[in-house]
Amino acid sequence: MAGRFITFEGPDGAGKTSVLSALIPIVEKHVAMPVTLTREPGGADISEKIRTLILDPANVAMDPRTEALLYAASRRQHLIEVIDPALAAGALVICDRFVDSSVAYQGGGRQIGEEAVLAMNHFATGGQGPELTVYLDIDSAAGLARIQAHQASRQYDRLDRESLAFHQRVRAAYLKLAKAEPARIKTVDASQPLEQVVAACAKVLAAHLGDSWQ
Ligand SMILES: Nc1ncnc2c1ncn2[C@@H]1O[C@H](COP(=O)(O)OP(=O)(O)O)[C@@H](O)[C@H]1O
Ligand SMILES: [Mg+2]
Repeated sequence: MAGRFITFEGPDGAGKTSVLSALIPIVEKHVAMPVTLTREPGGADISEKIRTLILDPANVAMDPRTEALLYAASRRQHLIEVIDPALAAGALVICDRFVDSSVAYQGGGRQIGEEAVLAMNHFATGGQGPELTVYLDIDSAAGLARIQAHQASRQYDRLDRESLAFHQRVRAAYLKLAKAEPARIKTVDASQPLEQVVAACAKVLAAHLGDSWQ
């Protein structure tokens, strides 16, 4: 394949969406190949339908492994319908979340186990994955605070504490991944002001892409 595949990862509130919207125009200035920004389900119809199932609040009975399998199914369809064609066309594909998210959220957060989630996703992707992953790292309470800043102010309750513990497990799983795969996963301190996070990410991409970044 002529293209390049890069992913961005990190907990909710780390700033992936904000960083990518500022970063893409910078990447387009420095890289000659077309740039495709995507995120699951990425407009793939079948993936959208699977996500609707996962996110439907009526599905309270959904088992964590069912959820993990559905995410992997949605991921495969997005890979086949969106990512692979873009790579075949020679694009630099930048994806907001990929397999690492499942390892962190379902494996760590929901405690299914990172190895099991990774193996199951390997079946879904055929082992295909990003050559570079930028991991936006943020303290769990700070990430949650960023998200909650947009909600009506209310008291800190039991549910918030549960979601903090969940977030802490997600972050711990991400940090474990970054430590296990230092050549692929580059960690950026996402607690900095947005412009600094964007600059740090651009630096990581430039270092990785070498002559392809001009
Ligand atoms: N570096 C930053 N400093 C302060 N606030 C930020 C920063 N990056 C993002 N935010 C804010 O945090 C919230 C979550 O950001 P978002 O980009 O949606 O994160 P993600 O996509 O990783 O969940 C948004 O309100 C955004 O404006
Ligand atoms: Mg986002």
